[in-house]
Formats: sequence, structure tokens, C-alpha cells
Amino acid sequence: MPQPFLKWAGGKRALLAEILKRLPSGEIPLYIEPFLGGGAVFFALARAGRVQRAILNDRNPELIHAYRMVKEQPKALIQAIYKWKHSEKVYYDVRRLKFDKDNRSHDIPRAARLLWLNKTCYNGLYRTNKNGDFNVPFGRYQNPRLVDEENLYRCSEALQNVNLHESDFDEVMSLAGPGSVVYCDPPYSPMSKTASFTRYDGARFGVEEQARLTASFKALAARGAFGLLSNSCTEETRHLYADLPKDEVFVRRNINSRGDRRGRVAEFLVKTCERG
Ligand SMILES: C[S@@+](CC[C@H](N)C(=O)[O-])C[C@H]1O[C@@H](n2cnc3c(N)ncnc32)[C@H](O)[C@@H]1O
Repeated sequence: MPQPFLKWAGGKRALLAEILKRLPSGEIPLYIEPFLGGGAVFFALARAGRVQRAILNDRNPELIHAYRMVKEQPKALIQAIYKWKHSEKVYYDVRRLKFDKDNRSHDIPRAARLLWLNKTCYNGLYRTNKNGDFNVPFGRYQNPRLVDEENLYRCSEALQNVNLHESDFDEVMSLAGPGSVVYCDPPYSPMSKTASFTRYDGARFGVEEQARLTASFKALAARGAFGLLSNSCTEETRHLYADLPKDEVFVRRNINSRGDRRGRVAEFLVKTCERG
């Protein structure tokens, strides 16, 4: 049974049951996830054998490249991950490595680097500086499991009927048709002006993007598709989703820039229509 192979900020494991019970029941002819991250919802649906075909998208090209390699070459990927022994020195050596996305011989080490860093960096975070360089410090785990081989093969199998895209959310949402199910987990609208969790990859997901997403989300219903979207519960989102059915659910936040703010917070689960 495939489980997410990456830890990702905003991962949806804690909200999974709430999300699944709001999706239409039965087999999904086309499932679209425009903000993939760790893919907790996709893998849960795959475990239940409910996805006939899927389109998975994220704007982060390193992330989508890793999914591609898991799908196409899991064995070579596992072998490449084991080449780097776990230590602080090796961590910073691997972090400094640069690969050429147009050089096919770099495909495997490039994806292996992302998976390896995800298991050994601080808190499994993905963060880059202005130049796009990964800048999360060493994680100081005693003996991290660098890769769960069995699970990676299961993920690879689950990805066989999947098209992977690295575009803006809008491009893949426009591919939804009658019966499609779309789950959106965008970078959350900030709870305060200082909260920085709208920045996953150095690019902003600000007020205009939130509004643009709301428009694409609302357009799903007219095409006969069902949409579910999660977001923080703020004045901005209350206003954006004023005319859509939504529930407030409480969730424990694990990744937060301020340790003392960890705790249960309200989030919105918004639907395009009452029933899927
Ligand atoms: C909250 S995370 C997704 C978490 C994921 N659902 C999980 O369970 O782990 C949001 C993702 O949106 C991506 N993203 C940000 N802006 C985007 C855009 N304009 N279009 C597509 N993806 C975007 C980020 O790279 C990030 O991976």
C-alpha cells in the first residue's frame, strides 16, 4: 500500500479522513491534484484503488522530476540514494551538488539528491534561497532511514496511470471534465502579516494568486467536475469563498516557523457544490 515517499510542508496526513469523506465516493475517472507536494491525498485514493487516471502537478520542477524517476526508474533511484552515507559532511556535499536538467545522465542522481536530502535535512523541509539553491540545514538524525524500498516500488506502481506536470495550477485545472475530481491544497493564505508559509520555493503565492485560484476553482462546476480545496481560515479566505459550501475543521500544525505557535488551528475545506 503506497504511502507518501516525501515529507512536505503542509502535508495533509492529519486532515486526510476529513478530506476523503468530502470527496465523491467510488471510482474516479480522472483525479487532478494541482498542488501535489507530498501527495498524501493521491496516495490515499490510490491505496483504495479508486483512481482510474490522474494528473498530478506542482510548480516545483525538482519535486516533479523526483516523482517522474520514482515512476520510471525506482530501482536505479534506490541504488543512487544508497551511494551517499549519512553524515553532516556528506550532507553539505550533497546539498552543494548541482545537476543539469537537460542532461539525461543526471536524471537519477538529481532525483536521488532530493529524496536523500528530504530524509536527512532539518524537519524534512524544502526551502530555497533567491538563487533557487536548497538551503535547509542538516537534520541531526541518529540513523535516518534513507529510503523505504518496498514503499518506493509501491509508489512507482501507483504512478503508472499518472501524467506528471510542472506547470501553474491553472493549466491542469482546465483539463478537468465531467466526472473529474480536483483536490487543491495551495500554499495557505497567511494567518498573519509575518507568517511566511506562503513561500515554498522562493516564488510568492499572494493575494492575486489566491483570487486567481478561486476563479479557476469556481469554474470547475460549470465543466461538470467536482472540486475540494483546503486553506487556512482567515478574513481573506472567508471573503474569497463566501458563496461556496465549506466546513471548518481543526488540525494540528506540525511545521511552523514559531515553535510556540504549534497547536490546533481551524482550516477551511471548501467544495464547488454540496454533493460530489
Ligand atoms: C501545501 S503544499 C501541498 C501539500 C500536499 N498536498 C501534501 O499533502 O503534502 C503546496 C504546493 O504548491 C506548490 N505551488 C505553489 N505555487 C504553485 C502554483 N502557482 N501552481 C502549482 N503549484 C504551486 C508548491 O510547490 C507546494 O509543493
